[in-house]
Amino acid sequence: MCGIVAYVGNKNVAPLLIEGLKRLEYRGYDSAGMAVVTPQGIKLVRSVGRVSVLEAHAASDAALQGTLGIAHTRWATHGVPSEANAHPHLGQSRSGHTIAVVHNGIIENYAALKTWLTERGHQFYSQTDTEVLAKLVAEFYEGPPAARDAAAGGGVANGHGGLEQAVQAALREVTGAYAIAVVSNAEPHTLVCARKGSPLIVGIGENSYIVASDASAIIAHTTQVFTLDDYQVAKLCAGPDDTVNGTRGPWSVAFRTTTIDNVPVSREVSALEFDLQQIELGKFKHYMLKEIMEQPEAIRNCLRGRIDKREARVVLGGLNQFARDLVRAKRFILTGQGTAFHAGRIAEYLFEDLAKVPARAEYASEFRYRNPIIEDGSIVVAISQSGETADTLAALREAKERGALALGVVNAVGSTIARDTDAGVYLHVGPEIGVASTKAFVGQVTVLTLMALFIGKRKYLSDEVVRSYLAELERMPDHLERVLTQSEAIGQIVSNYVRRQNWLFLGRGYNFPVALEGALKLKEISYIHAEGMPAAEMKHGPIALIDKGMPVVFIATQGSQYEKVISNIEEVRARGGAVIAVATEGDARIRKYAEAVIEVPAVPEPLQPALTVLPLQLVAYHAAVQRGLDVDKPRNLAKSVTVE
Ligand code: AGP
Ligand code: GLU
Repeated sequence: MCGIVAYVGNKNVAPLLIEGLKRLEYRGYDSAGMAVVTPQGIKLVRSVGRVSVLEAHAASDAALQGTLGIAHTRWATHGVPSEANAHPHLGQSRSGHTIAVVHNGIIENYAALKTWLTERGHQFYSQTDTEVLAKLVAEFYEGPPAARDAAAGGGVANGHGGLEQAVQAALREVTGAYAIAVVSNAEPHTLVCARKGSPLIVGIGENSYIVASDASAIIAHTTQVFTLDDYQVAKLCAGPDDTVNGTRGPWSVAFRTTTIDNVPVSREVSALEFDLQQIELGKFKHYMLKEIMEQPEAIRNCLRGRIDKREARVVLGGLNQFARDLVRAKRFILTGQGTAFHAGRIAEYLFEDLAKVPARAEYASEFRYRNPIIEDGSIVVAISQSGETADTLAALREAKERGALALGVVNAVGSTIARDTDAGVYLHVGPEIGVASTKAFVGQVTVLTLMALFIGKRKYLSDEVVRSYLAELERMPDHLERVLTQSEAIGQIVSNYVRRQNWLFLGRGYNFPVALEGALKLKEISYIHAEGMPAAEMKHGPIALIDKGMPVVFIATQGSQYEKVISNIEEVRARGGAVIAVATEGDARIRKYAEAVIEVPAVPEPLQPALTVLPLQLVAYHAAVQRGLDVDKPRNLAKSVTVE
């Protein structure tokens, strides 16, 4: 979902912007562009398609020399993907200064603003909402109308106007979501950025600042970062004229953070928790494969410090202050989208089974508009890898307004959702770059299992039962390793069905949501149509889909409903379906019913999802590779859906 990179400092900015955009490609986009502030004015380069196309255009433009610039990968919301609609967008101030803007989000009242600006002489060239923002900043550059008249002692020359106040004034007129970076040729050492609803991080370099949509474009420059809250603006200066403190002279680096009403606010600088190596592809062909294969290590990191077998307890420091609320809770609402929602579906079973408390998973996009009833004792858990999903953030805020305690299960440290919760648990599985969520899902399921045990321990679970689950969890990374050794064999299995355009994924109990997740993985990466459902539900209609050789993936591990699953398998086979079974190691019986079997180690049912999902992740990965598709940049998809 779009990417922003901006820089002010002492280095040649164009190659640095391109490098940053490449680190953000995984977020999904359709076009790209950059603007560099040069002594000859603002130079713009934009292109449709990949960042590599923009890079080629930029390389051939010798005029792109400067130390201040902004860049963008666009995920179109208003106006088709085209060079004219690609960012940055420009505006001209009354005194002829040029303003350039890149924007992630949606300006909801852009039409009314466009009319007002057109009446004031601004001429538009694109179909985007963002261009309105560029011209709005330009309109206010010399200061708000009243202060504009130089004769009245106004105007930029007399200390009025300027980029920071113009951005503040413009944003006071805007409704919608935005993360923006703004430059002007009138202020060649000043970068202004702001956010509401869309993510933005500011990196503090040695003689520079770098701003980006997420930390993966910052980590190569610095680990010192701060974020902005909604309606906040940062003015970043690096150069001989420090317009933050109004001094002139030697090189200075300074920043100021305010609200859009120019009220100063302080921001806490923190250190990024990962390094460049973690976001490099390394020996792998795709980030998705890298992240599938690093799940054992990711879950070791997720579990680290959170299991105390001796005391038979789970250590979740972030929840301690709310432990009693969790124990007394009457209901848990787990909310998220996509894969995160599927983790929430698994938590329904975990919370009711291990913590004996009612739990329900809700699509965040539905929950937020349904006028939900939030009784006393309700706790909402927002699940999100990126911590920036617009619908999940909105659902969280809705639940908080209605009185619920709001918890988060999030991977991206310091993300908006993480900062908006009352408390939470980070996944600590490392940055997830692949668009298809894999290690984050297993991390979410692991954390939700820990939360269920954290509560269950304080309610009905004996120390012996808790200790046994904790021992099993400690063995989980080794179990994951064992499943991953079958990757090549799974690729062989997939090759027998990869041309089939419709698949079914079936499971029962804890493995029903895993079937949903398996279907989503296959759909979003290989574009094969797939549907997940409870195994029993297949008889209530979808069985009509089954024709000869149709691939039907069953999660048929040993458990309370194993016999029922075998019956469902026989129903599929009787109609010619091709059964691929995920089964428990050593299960000889299943081989009589399935054309292909993928084995996972035997673990108690509540812990099975983290294992049974791995074969399905690999099925999707191999299908996409065998179909010659772009595994890490699937069409139409974005890694983090930061617009509604
Ligand atoms: C998962 O493979 C998808 N890319 C998508 O469904 C994702 O899970 C969803 O957009 C939620 O993202 P989040 O976890 O970052 O909130
Ligand atoms: N709404 C803007 C556009 O359509 C920005 C979209 C984005 O976030 O990339 O250009």
